Amino acid sequence: MDFMDIVRSRRSVRKYRPDPVPQEKIEAVLEAARLAPSWANGQCWTFIVVTDPKVKQRVAEAGNEWIEHAPAIVVACADPKKSGAKGDQAYYLLDVGIAMEHLVLAATDQGLGTCWIGWFDEQKAKAALGVPKDIRVVALTPLGYPDETPEARPRRSLDAMVCRDGWQ
Ligand SMILES: Cc1cc2nc3c(=O)[nH]c(=O)nc-3n(C[C@H](O)[C@H](O)[C@H](O)COP(=O)(O)O)c2cc1C
Repeated sequence: MDFMDIVRSRRSVRKYRPDPVPQEKIEAVLEAARLAPSWANGQCWTFIVVTDPKVKQRVAEAGNEWIEHAPAIVVACADPKKSGAKGDQAYYLLDVGIAMEHLVLAATDQGLGTCWIGWFDEQKAKAALGVPKDIRVVALTPLGYPDETPEARPRRSLDAMVCRDGWQ
């Protein structure tokens, strides 16, 4: 797919067909995440691919019960020590955000749905997956063939979000 077609057709998908995701498609989306830029090339991320129904259920119990019905969940973790900070702004969130968006767009290109999940109980997610104490769980997404075709959500116009040569 043309890049802008991928960007335009991506949606947050919250209903999935039960069909498993072929391994080569999972590898393709992970490869896109692998190639993401990061602070000092620290690549602070680890992605946990969950397909075991029992583990999926426990991850879903961390806040979004509906994701249990997706054939896979990708959990994006970060080791903040492998990223940097500018004052009080920690860059591991940006590093993982960029890598995750690579993954999300690659999934669209593979005909797969995703949905960024930022609201969840991090401690519950960590317990479900055995994530070490000093590693953060930043985001997760279900991954699978969409069973819905959501309308495009509204976006502000370029005029409303772009200033020229200073804040106006
Ligand atoms: C950082 C971030 C966190 C989000 N967290 C959630 C979430 O916890 N649960 C959810 O259902 N959707 C979540 N979303 C999806 C947004 O609601 C969605 O992207 C937005 O409504 C625009 O819709 P679209 O993705 O279909 O264009 C999140 C999106 C982002 C970027």
